[in-house]
Amino acid sequence: MTPFRFIPLVVAAGTLTASAGEIAIETKHSALVLRAETGKEPLTIHHGKRLADPAEYAKLPDRPKTADDPSGIYGAAYTTAGSRNLLEPAIQVTHSDGDASLVLNYESHETKQVAEGIQLTTIKLVDPAHPLHVTLHYKAYVEEDVIEQWSSISHEEAGPLKMQKYASANLFLTGKHHYLTHYHGDWAREMQAESEELTAGIKVLDSKLGTRANLFQPPSFMIGVNGPVEEDRGEVLACNLAWTGNYQIALEIDPARNLRVIAGINPYASEYTLEPKKEFTTPALIHTWSGTGSGDASRNLHRWARKHRVLEGLGKRQTLLNNWEATYFDFNEDKLTALIKDGKKLGSDVFLLDDGWFGNKFPRNDDHAGLGDWEPNKLKLPHGIGHLVKEAEANGIKFGIWLEPEMVNPKSELYTKHPEWVIQSANREPHYYRNQLVLDLSNPEVQDFVFGIVDKLLTENPTLAYIKWDCNAVIFNAKSATNPQPSHLYVDYVKGFYTVMERLRQKYPALPIMLCSGGGGRADYGALKYFTEFWPSDNTDPLDRIYMQWEYSKFFPAITMGAHVTNWGKQPLKYRTDVAMMGKYGHDIVVSELDEKELRFTQDSLKLYKELGDTVWHGDLYRLVSPYTNDFASLMYVNEAKKEGVWFSYLVTGSRKNLGSGSPVKLKGLDPATRYSIREVNLYPGTKSSLGGDGSWSGDYLMTVGFNPQVTKDRASVILVVSETK
Ligand code: DGJ
Repeated sequence: MTPFRFIPLVVAAGTLTASAGEIAIETKHSALVLRAETGKEPLTIHHGKRLADPAEYAKLPDRPKTADDPSGIYGAAYTTAGSRNLLEPAIQVTHSDGDASLVLNYESHETKQVAEGIQLTTIKLVDPAHPLHVTLHYKAYVEEDVIEQWSSISHEEAGPLKMQKYASANLFLTGKHHYLTHYHGDWAREMQAESEELTAGIKVLDSKLGTRANLFQPPSFMIGVNGPVEEDRGEVLACNLAWTGNYQIALEIDPARNLRVIAGINPYASEYTLEPKKEFTTPALIHTWSGTGSGDASRNLHRWARKHRVLEGLGKRQTLLNNWEATYFDFNEDKLTALIKDGKKLGSDVFLLDDGWFGNKFPRNDDHAGLGDWEPNKLKLPHGIGHLVKEAEANGIKFGIWLEPEMVNPKSELYTKHPEWVIQSANREPHYYRNQLVLDLSNPEVQDFVFGIVDKLLTENPTLAYIKWDCNAVIFNAKSATNPQPSHLYVDYVKGFYTVMERLRQKYPALPIMLCSGGGGRADYGALKYFTEFWPSDNTDPLDRIYMQWEYSKFFPAITMGAHVTNWGKQPLKYRTDVAMMGKYGHDIVVSELDEKELRFTQDSLKLYKELGDTVWHGDLYRLVSPYTNDFASLMYVNEAKKEGVWFSYLVTGSRKNLGSGSPVKLKGLDPATRYSIREVNLYPGTKSSLGGDGSWSGDYLMTVGFNPQVTKDRASVILVVSETK
């Protein structure tokens, strides 16, 4: 492990504190360096490659550029509003006496080793004119090159403080040119990438959807310093805001052409009142710096996520047979029993019962009614859920269930009983998203209700093996009937969601739960603390999924990315299967409609996935050939020991010209000195690999010269296993 360094050093029993000077938050390859002097605003003086000699941080100028800085704080580590700042602030408040100005000077800092390989630096700031304190927190995951950064605000003023803005992080990058890769989309069109050079002014990425960060725009982005983001070279900062609600990321090219990034909860309609002696903690911005392109940045995030963030990130995953697209709402006990048997026949680990199993007075036979009434529908399921759990177990497969506990249909007993639990405005026409409204999770009674739904199910059915936690609606008419602070609703909703998940995780620490929201609305590292995986999109057309999963893979590891074979798309079953197998593999098909070959192929693919799963889930991902600039996409997972690689390639163009791979693909991430064999797997019954005979190649050869996976229109998807030869 790389030794950690402190500058300057004043040792105090396990904790390193410093009075002033350079504060370096270092990881294995990167450093975020601040300069702090008592009574002054701390400045960011470096964010990039770590210097070999930490003493040289002292030589860094306050401002790297000769341009004017009339305020002297363009590079402020946490920019305040209402005083001499001229740029986008990170924090804006009105003090209890009505003063709307803020200055935050350095007071003290300390760095602690909080766990093996994790250093937490906290920097205390104080307003010289008011008893208001802000602490900046930087948690450095040294080996993974990831920094988790947030702030906390407290005060001892005579009355409440009004906070108009309270960002998590205020980054400062001093390249000559800055490029942004960000994402947009909508239902079934998630994660569409766009890249551009940032020009003077402010570019804002944000969400105002309330229940989720994404639908239109996820809180994930990359910055290329001095050049567009490239896979294998150049300085890249990859970020995700760990917050499952409204967020704002403002990227400002300042007058000196530095890039200032202010990221946090969206200040939109969210003025927050903070009582004296209370503390407000912001969510964290997760970021990693790479000097060698987005490939390494992604691998940093993946390693960090698996080891430190995602629930059971180092564990295994179960394959699912989901009934959603097989039945939609139209099922009964007999039909489900047959599907359960089909799941077993296929070889899936879990049969997952989707939407439509509940509601009696208002049966859930379509998406207009029943949401909120979590009692099994007596007509469809006369013997309840317990019977199905047992039925599954008797057939040698586990049972999982769909829930959407944060939502309600107006046509439900819950709505009739508790209209005050619903987010809506009494003087506005209700406006629905998928015919439903959102429950007010800022209300502790609603939190209890949501916790209770899951707890009851799990208490009654202790062997229930899986939950799909859906969240389809966004918040319209954002008004709480019970929250004493109307402008707290958006923030308190997300905090309420996390409170419920905390309670659930205390009682059910390891139960696999999928984070779903009619697509990739909740793919953020705030929620993923409590979930084992997420559903990237309802769009499972494999061609679209190649691009989406490619983009999600920039930020999230394969183990988190639900990928099912369905009937979306026109591609053959092999292609659909090969695409799903690069993620967390599962099915949403009618098994009884598979012919003999299709069934055998799918059964074998599930067995194969069990063999390869470890490398796909826990290996390092190398994106080899981009689908945007080639006829095919190619990517490979390499296990930590570099003994096995699982290599996926997919044709993405229908053109007859220049079709396919044509020439060798240079592999990445192997050990140059190790010899590898290459074998094709997941062949469709009756087909043979065109790769021919045996052979072995050094990692050096495969990474220098490459190997042609022979992707052609007749071999539109190819999975190869690259294994160390014994
Ligand atoms: C949206 C999800 O993404 C689907 O997979 C399915 O669970 C439906 N909701 C059910 O209503």
